[in-house]
Amino acid sequence: MSFILPLKETRWGIPFYLKTNRFYIVKKILSLLTVAYKPKRGVSFRMKKIIMKYILVLLLSLVGVGLQAQNIIPKPEIVQNKAGQEFVIKESTTIFVDKGVDNEISNEINNLLKRSKRISLKNSSTISNNQISFLKDLTLPTEGYSLDVSNNGIKIKASTSVGFFYGVQSLLQLLPAEAFSYSPQPDLKLSVTGVFVKDMPRFGYRGVMIDVGRHFFSPTFIKKMIDVFAMYKINTFHWHLTEDQGWRIEIKKYPKLTEVGSIRKETAVGHYSENKFDGKPYGGFYTQEEIKDVVAYAAKKHITIIPEIEMPGHSMAALTAYPELGCTGGPYELRTTWGVEDHIYCPTETTFKFLEDVLTEVMELFPSKYIHIGGDEAPKITWENSQFCQDLMKKEGLKDEHELQSYFIKRIDKFVTSKGRRIIGWDEILEGGLSPNATVMSWRGEEGGIEAAKMKHDVIMTPNSYVYLDYYQGEPTLEPLAIGGFLPLEKVYSFNPISSKLTKDEAKHILGVQGNLWTEYISTPEHAEYMLFPRVFAIAELGWSSGSKDYPEFTKRVFQNTHLLSLLGVNSSDSYLNVSFTTSKNNLGQTVVGLNSIKEDGVIRYTLDGTNVTPSSIVYNVTDKIPVNKNITIKAALFSSDGKLLSKVTSKAFEISKTTGFKYILASEPDKQKEKGKFILTDGQKGDGNSQDLWSGFYGKDFDWTLDLGTTLSVSSVAVGFLGDYKSWIQTPSKVEILMSTDGINFKSVKLKDFGKMTDLSQHALHLNLDFGKTNARFIKVTAKNQGLLPEGHPSAGNPSWIFVDEISVN
Ligand code: ACM
Repeated sequence: MSFILPLKETRWGIPFYLKTNRFYIVKKILSLLTVAYKPKRGVSFRMKKIIMKYILVLLLSLVGVGLQAQNIIPKPEIVQNKAGQEFVIKESTTIFVDKGVDNEISNEINNLLKRSKRISLKNSSTISNNQISFLKDLTLPTEGYSLDVSNNGIKIKASTSVGFFYGVQSLLQLLPAEAFSYSPQPDLKLSVTGVFVKDMPRFGYRGVMIDVGRHFFSPTFIKKMIDVFAMYKINTFHWHLTEDQGWRIEIKKYPKLTEVGSIRKETAVGHYSENKFDGKPYGGFYTQEEIKDVVAYAAKKHITIIPEIEMPGHSMAALTAYPELGCTGGPYELRTTWGVEDHIYCPTETTFKFLEDVLTEVMELFPSKYIHIGGDEAPKITWENSQFCQDLMKKEGLKDEHELQSYFIKRIDKFVTSKGRRIIGWDEILEGGLSPNATVMSWRGEEGGIEAAKMKHDVIMTPNSYVYLDYYQGEPTLEPLAIGGFLPLEKVYSFNPISSKLTKDEAKHILGVQGNLWTEYISTPEHAEYMLFPRVFAIAELGWSSGSKDYPEFTKRVFQNTHLLSLLGVNSSDSYLNVSFTTSKNNLGQTVVGLNSIKEDGVIRYTLDGTNVTPSSIVYNVTDKIPVNKNITIKAALFSSDGKLLSKVTSKAFEISKTTGFKYILASEPDKQKEKGKFILTDGQKGDGNSQDLWSGFYGKDFDWTLDLGTTLSVSSVAVGFLGDYKSWIQTPSKVEILMSTDGINFKSVKLKDFGKMTDLSQHALHLNLDFGKTNARFIKVTAKNQGLLPEGHPSAGNPSWIFVDEISVN
């Protein structure tokens, strides 16, 4: 029959249209109505009834598709809401566990109910209504599950215990958040609205790394994080256990690793460039018993722990304990500040024996397939100056120190592989030749991962540009001191672990994604939680969820889940709710500022007089942008409808010039901040030296900007700002020129400033105010010359420089 629905199958055999395509459903309904009610066709009454039934199903699925799975993070593959159905978990509700399903699964539910409701559900040996049943379904994939909530009860199906575990995690997220509370909730109704969920992960590796070398975090805290990670279907915890600043794992054969190597004499305070110290010894390590306990705990939560033992770099704590492991013989001292250490392991037989002994004990403690051996940031200077290394290179036919590092890693790879395990290394292990069995963690952007996948090596994507959770997640002046960078929730969420540069076959080597929490600037559990959440929600979703993304929809679930975390005593950040500012011209030609927030049902309040924002400050109406005709500071924050502050108070100084809010033309597009909107150079907001936010970045090219004032005006000065940040490859320009024109064709130079090489190598903003005397102009051009390749002596010499520009104001 012509109206039979095309069953485009998903991976689940469920019609495609039920999953995503609302447009398709509407079209289908219209075509079915046409078939049923075109008199010429002579469709029988029975057939009409069948068609109407189809239409009803489609309408219901439309409702189901329209609503996402209320709260669930990561977003499930398929969610169909069952309009009008609901199940309430009561004390009389029983649990049925199918043959072959681990009984443990009932504890996942009962542990929660005992806590908040002081109830525990009884097991039943028969299937009945008013029941949560766990049913074996061998057709479901390893980590997949289905969850069916109806008036009669709840059915969770899976083929493995991890599948059941994830089914329960999704179910628990559908309960009212207060079910997670540690305080009794006698009046809480444990209702779950009717829904059918069918789910499986996009990637088999979904990880989070915590660095316990720079700051030590207790086993209790690690277990708390494991609990939370597991709730969001993260299945790997990468434990970064050794560093220049501290060795954190007991090794029986080398007791000095913890006796000496776990304690540094003091710690840098403030930004490490300030060179200030607290004068207090700092230490901490895990005994082997504690490690075993955490590993077993994580296994129950279906989390594999991958230990990392860093080599050949980041090894100063080990060198301090056993100086014979270094090329100079020491004495060495644990680093008390951050950055990269020149002293690294010397590739002697003593070192290899030591590392094999250490790895043997490590492999006994950690049953993981993978053992992380570091490999990053190993300066080669001590190897260059070591006669031993030079002789070894000659003997082994190695052409440079990168090949010597490759020799080092290959030996360790051979050892680890001989024990039936596999090594993972940071992407520097590509330099000098990749070891045959290595999996690569791509951290310096995505390129290392792409290169490794093309070489048919497995890859875990952890690019610093998207998933470094130690970077700022909001306006730096409002955040606790961080290492740098700018990585708001939206940027993390926008990452696609599979680059478009990979073919389908190459993409199979991308095992998954991981967020990294380096802890140079993070010393307390509260701060670590603040940096992890909510960005780990985005990591979880990148690793688990397939299909299209919708950031505003995601943030609704984030809001629900940060509330849930607060009941668990987890401190998450609210920075993603901060109000942001956009500048434009209205149709009267006035410069206007818009205030934006991701939360549609929130209330933005603001002040224009520099006073603080309170629940009684003026309410911003989205349709009324704020006209700004003089220099002004706007402060704004997001509130709930009942006056609760939901975000930080953001504050922006607007400096208004003849060109504020105007559009302009760039000879070449920026490589950074496209996403902020094209016109951030005339938005009235100046970039500052504290952050790379608000700046437009141009990589390896000159800057060339032209603005049309629309009419000829008398102008006499141009202000323009440049960021200098040598270590981040950002150089202030060698030359800046201002040109004017009345016709847009013939430009006359009115000012040329020659700066030559950049001499201030600190991170700083260079704000220029260039006067040239009154000139009539309609078109204004500003050009800035890129410094070219990074000079000799720079750690990345020979790579192109960036120019970062912000706010060009003409007066
Ligand atoms: C790294 O961030 N050094 C792997």
